[in-house]
Amino acid sequence: MSNIAEEINKRRTFAIISHPDAGKTTLTEKFLLYGGAINLAGSVKGKATARHAVSDWMEIEKERGISVTSSVLQFNYDGYCINILDTPGHQDFSEDTYRTLMAADSAVMVIDASKGVEAQTRKLFKVCGMRGIPIFTFINKMDRDANDTFELLDEIEKELGIATCPVNWPIGSGKRFKGVYDRHENHVLTFSDTEKGTKEGETTVISMDDEDTLLSTLGEEALTALRDEIDLLDGASAEFDLDEVRRGKLTPVFFGSALTNFGVEVFLQNFLKMATTPLPRISQGQTIDPVDNQFSAFVFKIQANMDPRHRDRIAFFRVCSGVYQPGMKVRHVREGREMKIANALTFMANERVHMQEAYAGDIIGIYNHGQLHIGDTLTEGETLGFTGIPYFAPELFRSARARDPLKGKQLHQGLKELGEEGAIQVFEGEFGNLMLGAVGQLQFEIVAQRLATEYKVDAIYESTDVSTARWLVFPDEKTKKDFCEEQAARLARDSEGNICYMATSIYNLMTTQKHWPQVQFLTTREQGQKFE
Ligand code: G4P
Repeated sequence: MSNIAEEINKRRTFAIISHPDAGKTTLTEKFLLYGGAINLAGSVKGKATARHAVSDWMEIEKERGISVTSSVLQFNYDGYCINILDTPGHQDFSEDTYRTLMAADSAVMVIDASKGVEAQTRKLFKVCGMRGIPIFTFINKMDRDANDTFELLDEIEKELGIATCPVNWPIGSGKRFKGVYDRHENHVLTFSDTEKGTKEGETTVISMDDEDTLLSTLGEEALTALRDEIDLLDGASAEFDLDEVRRGKLTPVFFGSALTNFGVEVFLQNFLKMATTPLPRISQGQTIDPVDNQFSAFVFKIQANMDPRHRDRIAFFRVCSGVYQPGMKVRHVREGREMKIANALTFMANERVHMQEAYAGDIIGIYNHGQLHIGDTLTEGETLGFTGIPYFAPELFRSARARDPLKGKQLHQGLKELGEEGAIQVFEGEFGNLMLGAVGQLQFEIVAQRLATEYKVDAIYESTDVSTARWLVFPDEKTKKDFCEEQAARLARDSEGNICYMATSIYNLMTTQKHWPQVQFLTTREQGQKFE
């Protein structure tokens, strides 16, 4: 067996986040290209196949040409073993996206230079903030006209509440994009518009002391502007501090153009140096060391229908400590029983590979027929439980009832299982009426499709008067009783039995909160968390 500490030091596990169209897929492809995992970036996502990223699997994804489920890719580069956790790039993303961030040690945030911080980035960033994971910013599409650089940084700082430290600085943008100035090396890297998809760009390096070459390459106007901006920047921007980066308080910022392959490898190299190796995780107040502890891993996502011929699902585990080896016996902590994992999978570019060994930071996929739920922990014997898998108050609601009343039981069973799997949140109202809650519209479509094909239930989904939900925490039994009596019509229970307030509008929520200041209305809960 290889040396565990050595293996873990090689590992970097990160999620890649962005608003749709900022260039996440393009950047990921270029990473894979550098790692030699694919031969020609772009071949995996040509125009003919529309948006077939390497990580698209499900039929529904193919039909709609979007990435529904967050996916995992592993590749090697420069002695590192890199795990990328892709997050869905569509507006209709789901709770999977949030949970994926729980499995990552850092996040790469891709921002479109002409758009700045967009809605999706803001949402995802919030979760990164909750966990305090380091964030590395790649400001993309500098080959197009970009917003003012200082304004972009200001926006990140204000909107996301994180200090920024540019590692390099762009010289112009769009047609006048000349390259970037590397602050650490004190040199300029020139940009030349390479052919889309090729690996090598013709970048030259010019020292800031080489005035003649700078002048002839950049021109007087751009050079003067650059010198002025460097002065301003040195005075205004936060000092680079690796500890602050690792605490998620400071984001190193890089500028480039993923499409033309400019600045991507520099970003990757710097990122790999600055990002942490897989860190210890906390389980019930105990620190689980990646090297010293025996094997442990938790499920952060379950993907169904990877093979439509079987009703199989794959549970994705993040390994937190120790070593996985095929055939090993592990303890399924929630069920308190042993299970054997024979053929865990890993995912390299567009193929699945049977894993021979996995270490902390790696993601393994295990076939599952419903026995594994989101948040479940497997160990080599210890009774651990990794907390922190979040559930967010849904923003979209539908009621569900079986078209054939005799199928009510199947509907309940199907929704119970899909709820446990984390595909959707299920709420039961006072009269046994079922409500589905999602953070993305597509979750409903996937659930409807799965109920029909896997559970043979044709259900009717209707809009409801619920616009948002909150988990309730009461200070005492009396308040709970009074509140529940008064608000009975607006209450429902989640899959753990927690009482939720189903508000008709934000105004309705605020009014109720005002009347009941002693009751807490929570927007998130953790997997398995019970409030009563
Ligand atoms: P996403 O995964 O974040 O949703 O974004 P994706 O990489 O799919 O990129 C969205 C669009 O932006 C694509 O164009 C892509 O080619 C383009 N793009 C990505 N990076 C850059 C860049 O650095 N500069 C420029 N100019 N464009 C960039 P598309 O026309 O929608 O798709 P395609 O036909 O090129 O595949």
